[in-house]
Order: sequence, then C-alpha cells, then structure tokens
Amino acid sequence: MSPPGSDLAIKRGPDLIELKNVSVSYGSKEVLKDVSLEIKKGKVIAIMGPNASGKSTMIRLMNGLLLPGSGDCLVDGINTRDDMYYARRQVGMVFQDPEDQLVSRKVLDDVAFGPKNLGFSSFESLAVAIESLSLVGLEKMADKSVHDLSGGQKQLLSIAGVLAMNPSYIAMDEPTSLLDGEGTGLVREIIGKLKSGYRGIVLVTHDPAEALLADEIFVVDNGKIAMRGTPEEIFSRHEELESIGVDVPQMLRFSKRLKKLGADTGDLWSVEGAVREICHWS
Ligand SMILES: Nc1ncnc2c1ncn2[C@@H]1O[C@H](COP(=O)(O)OP(=O)(O)OP(=O)(O)O)[C@@H](O)[C@H]1O
Ligand SMILES: [Mg+2]
Repeated sequence: MSPPGSDLAIKRGPDLIELKNVSVSYGSKEVLKDVSLEIKKGKVIAIMGPNASGKSTMIRLMNGLLLPGSGDCLVDGINTRDDMYYARRQVGMVFQDPEDQLVSRKVLDDVAFGPKNLGFSSFESLAVAIESLSLVGLEKMADKSVHDLSGGQKQLLSIAGVLAMNPSYIAMDEPTSLLDGEGTGLVREIIGKLKSGYRGIVLVTHDPAEALLADEIFVVDNGKIAMRGTPEEIFSRHEELESIGVDVPQMLRFSKRLKKLGADTGDLWSVEGAVREICHWS
C-alpha cells in the first residue's frame, strides 16, 4: 500500500542520493571533509569506518536532518538546502539508537504514527503497521508497551516504523548492533527483500559479514572516504583496513591464518569460498 500523495513529488533528476564535495563541521571541528558518493535505487551500499569517523553524520545529511557546511546533498536531483522535506519523505532513517525513534507508548501505535502523518486513515495506518510488524517478526508484541521490548526488539521496531512509511531509500545506522544471531539474520533477509523492491539502501555497519551484502563499500576514516569498491575489492585490502581499524570477515581472517601456517591457499577469497562450501557456513 503506497502512502497517499507519495507520488506527487516532482523529481528533478535521476533516482539517486548524491553527496557532492560535502564538508561538515561541528563548531571548529571538521568531521566530514570533501565527501562525494552516490546511492542508486536498487543498490545496497555499506559505510564502514572506526568510531567517530563521521558515518552517522553522512547519513544524517541524506535525509535532510543536517545540511552540509559546504558542498551539496541531492535526493533525486533535489538539493536538501532547497527542500529538506522531500529528502525526509524519500529517505527513511533507522537511527543508531532506537530510543531516538520511539514516538508512542504502544508498539502498534508507534509504527502506525508514520503512515498516519502521511495521510493514511487510522484504519489504513493500523493495517500497514501490522504488516510492517510482521515483516520484522514483532506482530505478537503489537499490544505491548514499547518499554517492554528489549534493545534488539526496539531496533526491529524502528525498522518496522520506517518500512511502514514506504520510503524510496532506507538509511540504517548500525541496525543490528543490539541484535542476537536470529535478529541479525532477519535484518539481513529484510535488506535482501528491500533491495529486490528497487529501493536504495545505505547500511552503516561495523560488521564485515553485513557489509558483504552490499554492492559497494565506502570506508570512512577521519571524515574522508579512504576506500571505495566492491566487498571483494575492499576486503582484499585487509592490511589497509586493519590499519584504519575496520574488521575483515572472519572467514578471510581464517584463510590468512592458514596461509601464515604455510598452507598453499592461493588467493584468500577462493579459500574463503571453499571453507564456506565445505562447512555449509553462511
Ligand atoms: N551534534 C554534534 N555536535 C558536536 N559534535 C558532534 C555531533 N555529532 C557528532 N559529533 C562528533 O562528530 C564526529 C563524527 O561523529 P559521527 O557520529 O558522525 O561518527 P560515527 O562514525 O557515526 O561514530 P560511531 O561509530 O561512534 O557511531 C565525532 O567526533 C562526534 O563526537
Ligand atoms: Mg554513528
């Protein structure tokens, strides 16, 4: 179900989010320096980097919560300086701390809040909310208070809240940081489904296994894009990653260790693939 009026906005460019030579300072501290990147619909991009490198700042720019100090952020060709509400509508944001996203006391109302604000009737909003809660496996919690949820469940609740608004792009800031293995698997599944629905997904993550879902990875270091490439290209540069403070997939570390022990491993990625196949690891 599409929100009423969702297709009324007039696009001025191609379907993509662009940061063009963006710099951001908080007071005298420059936290993003001349950052450029694009996120196309139908693609998943991951942003990795050490703590305080500027990852959350980058995605706050994308939905107009923050305007660049210099440079531009465009959503479908519309500059967030000219129309931040277009960006807010098109780019759904799953915040790093799910507590920042809670708006109602009851789980169902919390998810229904967004569609109601977009103009759905109460009945339609509740129907969309129930559908979104089932997508994240929280339908049985619909009548509970949000305060009864665990940290991981609150993280899933904030994803449901964003799904209910059916945005064109979804920016997720470390969406699995509080989740167990089962919850993490579910979020990965949701990301896969969203991608096939032609949305653009931005995933800020410290988890290399999660970053493997992406079509492209951007590594941020001290406010600058230090590396950009496919997961295979990025994780092959494991020494650079380690010096920046970014983890590599566990399997890759394992194959490196084998090589160190003298095994003739060829290239690290083929070992990684073979181990996965033999052990049925995903
Ligand atoms: N509102 C703010 N006012 C002042 N400084 C800020 C503000 N928000 C972020 N910062 C600072 O900007 C820098 C980048 O912060 P940001 O949250 O973008 O980093 P991050 O890469 O998301 O970090 P983390 O991995 O810890 O989430 C940090 O030094 C942070 O302390
Ligand atoms: Mg952050």
